[in-house]
Amino acid sequence: MVMTVPEFKHAKRAGRKIAMVTAYDALFARIVDQAGIEAILVGDSLGIVVQGKDTTLSVTMEEMLYHTEMVARTARRALVISDMPFLSYQVSIEEALRNAGRLLQAGAAAVKLEGGRPIANRVRTLVECGIPVMGHIGMTPQAVHQYGGYKVQGKAPMHADNLRADAKLLEEAGAFSLVLEAVPSDLARDITESVSIPTIGIGAGPYCDGQILVLYDLLGLFDEFVPKFVKPYAHLKADALQALRRFKEEVECVKFPTETESYH
Ligand code: KIV
Repeated sequence: MVMTVPEFKHAKRAGRKIAMVTAYDALFARIVDQAGIEAILVGDSLGIVVQGKDTTLSVTMEEMLYHTEMVARTARRALVISDMPFLSYQVSIEEALRNAGRLLQAGAAAVKLEGGRPIANRVRTLVECGIPVMGHIGMTPQAVHQYGGYKVQGKAPMHADNLRADAKLLEEAGAFSLVLEAVPSDLARDITESVSIPTIGIGAGPYCDGQILVLYDLLGLFDEFVPKFVKPYAHLKADALQALRRFKEEVECVKFPTETESYH
């Protein structure tokens, strides 16, 4: 079944949990799609896992467009959602609309914006113009310097109340779903029960309507920094290291190539 925005929203009403991962290129998007994962996020986390930077802050619109095109080319059934990078939606509503539209033209079916109250009017405008929006609250990585690091948010009662209010505001503004990142499980449960749109958790416990992980974390490819909420379902970095070391050895002792890999 091809996943659409209405179908995504329907999953919550039907009590079906949603599995989402990130992908940044055509090869992995095809694999994720074939695995039946419902939605792919072209995340600005590519700044960290693909580009090797410490934060997502320098990811540009041009880079997001490039990666969105690659992912959309091979994702046949999964819903493709693209992150709006830092400064692509904060400066003005007009810029937010133009940039979100460009991501849809590159092949995304929806965009994701970080933040609550300050961006609710952007969300409303995009939705009114036919652009589906996923919200993202809790630990929003584009605000990392405000937090002083990638830290759990919403622990203090006042902050938790702000996040509850943000979730309602984003729902009212027309967001079709909400990512809850690095918040206590009980708060994520409260928010999930208080909104009619699906919540997608990352480091937000088991009560969300769905879960998302960064693909390279899930596959055990990225080990520079592994947050507590990551569960590696494979160990592809270890496999890759083993394969590469074997290749090097076989080249050195002329065990590769053999007759099988040679032309005559
Ligand atoms: O950029 C990203 O990958 C994200 C998810 C981790 C939610 O925003």
